[in-house]
Amino acid sequence: MTKPAISVQSLTKTYDSGLIALDDINLDIAQGEIFALLGPNGAGKTTLISAICGIIRVSDGIIEICGHDHTKEYRIARGKIGLVPQELTTDAFETVWNTVSFSRGLFGKPKNPAFIEEILKDLSLWDKKDEQIRKLSGGMKRRVMIAKALSHEPEILFLDEPSAGVDVELRKSMWRQIRRLRDNGTTIILTTHYIEEAEEMADRIGIINKGKLILIEEKKTLMKKLGKKELILELYSKVTEIPTPLADYNLLLSENGKRLTFTYDPSKKNNGVAELLDHLKDSGIKCKDIDTRQSSLEDIFVTLVGQS
Ligand SMILES: Nc1ncnc2c1ncn2[C@@H]1O[C@H](COP(=O)(O)OP(=O)(O)O)[C@@H](O)[C@H]1O
Ligand SMILES: [Mg+2]
Repeated sequence: MTKPAISVQSLTKTYDSGLIALDDINLDIAQGEIFALLGPNGAGKTTLISAICGIIRVSDGIIEICGHDHTKEYRIARGKIGLVPQELTTDAFETVWNTVSFSRGLFGKPKNPAFIEEILKDLSLWDKKDEQIRKLSGGMKRRVMIAKALSHEPEILFLDEPSAGVDVELRKSMWRQIRRLRDNGTTIILTTHYIEEAEEMADRIGIINKGKLILIEEKKTLMKKLGKKELILELYSKVTEIPTPLADYNLLLSENGKRLTFTYDPSKKNNGVAELLDHLKDSGIKCKDIDTRQSSLEDIFVTLVGQS
């Protein structure tokens, strides 16, 4: 069996301030998957990435990169990783070409201009190769960061909040590039607090809150397991209270009394929709319009984080 790209066992990080930023994290990430780490601000996402990449000292636990201990075999482990940090840190006066080439050299890789050219072309940066980084737009700077992270041909790419401050167009093109990398075998780990990004990109999702991983699940399973549907009934006339025969449905009556919402599990055969409609008719409640809504990953996320 191939080793996981990342294996984290019983990882704890307590900052000097006493804050427990990571609390007993256990996580395996398979080679070639896109894993999205979701969590509100301050949840511990950057701390977890920094710990795995060996940027901060951990308090306890084991981290292995493709089977290599991240401290005992630091150089091998770190060489397998490309990191696009949350904060854009580049040398403003350096050119795109130089900064990306230099980054490759830092990892002890021999020069390979053809490879650097390929990355820059892939990221639509080729015509900017001789520009100073300070002259580039924010979106281009972010792509330079990605180019730098890819310069030493890492097997694993970390992207910490890749969409922060990036407009919709660029975000979409970045997602395409990330998928292409994955298709070429790179393992991708991204953190985000844009739920839409995880919903769009991830094979698997981890949700972190207050330093604890509260859930790890295949995205599809997660959506199926926790995804609920809502039946929204717009009524002809105002209802002041829900009639007794309908009490069992946990209906939500809107403030103006003209809308009833029924939440049900669409995966269940007896989801209650047909009976509810019959009961409504018997109670003399007439519907003007009927709509359904599938709960999104966002709804699921808000519920989970709210509970923990
Ligand atoms: N160097 C540090 N020293 C002390 N506390 C820190 C440090 N860096 C981050 N924190 C705290 O650790 C928690 C997790 O932060 P972080 O990992 O940056 O969260 P996220 O990336 O999910 O927004 C936050 O409460 C943050 O204030
Ligand atoms: Mg962060």
